[in-house]
Amino acid sequence: MTQPTPKPTPTFRLAVVPGDGIGPEVISGGRRVLEAAGRLFGFGFTWQEVLVGGVAIDAYGVPIRDEDMAACAAADAVYFGAIGDPKYDDPKAKVRPEQALLAMRKDLALYANLRPVTVQPVLQASSPVRESLVAGVDMLIVRELTGGLYFGKPSEQRLGPNGREVVDTLFYTEGEIRRVVKLAFELARGRRKKLTSVDKANVLSSSRLWRTIVEEVRPEYPDVTVEHRLVDACAMSLVTRPTQFDVIVTENLFGDILSDEASVLAGSLGMLPSASIGEKRTAHGIHGLYEPIHGSAPDIAGKDIANPLATILSGAMLLRWSLGQTTAAEAIEKAVADALAQGYRTSDLVAATGEQPGQRKVGTQAMADAVVAALEAGAKAGAKAGTAATGASR
Ligand code: IPM
Ligand code: MG
Repeated sequence: MTQPTPKPTPTFRLAVVPGDGIGPEVISGGRRVLEAAGRLFGFGFTWQEVLVGGVAIDAYGVPIRDEDMAACAAADAVYFGAIGDPKYDDPKAKVRPEQALLAMRKDLALYANLRPVTVQPVLQASSPVRESLVAGVDMLIVRELTGGLYFGKPSEQRLGPNGREVVDTLFYTEGEIRRVVKLAFELARGRRKKLTSVDKANVLSSSRLWRTIVEEVRPEYPDVTVEHRLVDACAMSLVTRPTQFDVIVTENLFGDILSDEASVLAGSLGMLPSASIGEKRTAHGIHGLYEPIHGSAPDIAGKDIANPLATILSGAMLLRWSLGQTTAAEAIEKAVADALAQGYRTSDLVAATGEQPGQRKVGTQAMADAVVAALEAGAKAGAKAGTAATGASR
């Protein structure tokens, strides 16, 4: 019998994009949580920080440089804060920070955006939607991310015979639809086995092909229940009967809108993480980009009041999808729940109900500290219980 050789500590290469507005603050909190998870679970990181968004326009004149895109492609995963700056909001502006995010999605071929919406039990009262409706919400929105209205050409304003006219194009190939639909079926299979495909098939040709393809793929997943919903009716059901949803799959713009709507259920936009993934594999998992679904929130930037939990939870998704570190990912998710259960609240989470007894309003970095402390406490308790949280997780 040979002795098992100790596994070397894996070091993962992350490209990190703090970006604009509150991006740098939430990323700073998120990085500290990931570093802590690495210490506790036996892995490490090298971080390559890249300037993307408004900060890149300021520094280089472009929202993302080719070499920075290449650095993101070469990393095991991209950890992304937020981009966007009101000083580039002028509709006539030629360069805008958001172009970088769209370019990254396209160039890194991240065709699927996974947006889980769960409601932490202790935050049920924070949602403006009645508590009895949000209790038990657990859905996953799978948003197509590299096609549809966001990328179709032509997309321009021009001069026509009757003055200014404008066009955007909703274009999909069947392959683009099929791959995201299949991924959604796979994900539904690993959950409650219900897939809601959202479209506007009563009006749009693109939606009719979308629906046809869902029906074509359906026989491969006989264990998954499928329903088709029109986007307007679905928008209503998301607030009236949110617990009925398991996996939702939809076109890029519909997914953009519905996921912001669904975030209301979770009590705050500041709670929702996301993973953008494609087909490319790295040595450890699927290459992806992980970001909170909220934006750069320039109005509260630099004040240490932004909620870092969406970014921290995006870090957990990064560990799970790109690095194969499921145990550490679960530990972070539990630490977030624990910190909330201990009463820690950023201001977005107290706003709806007012500060309650047992709650402590904290800033961005203090909230991240609370998660780190909960993570360490959880690992200690786990080690005591004999389920040692040491060594690399599998
Ligand atoms: C999102 C954002 C982006 C989008 C913006 C910033 C371009 O709203 O990730 O949902 O529309 O996709
Ligand atoms: Mg959006």
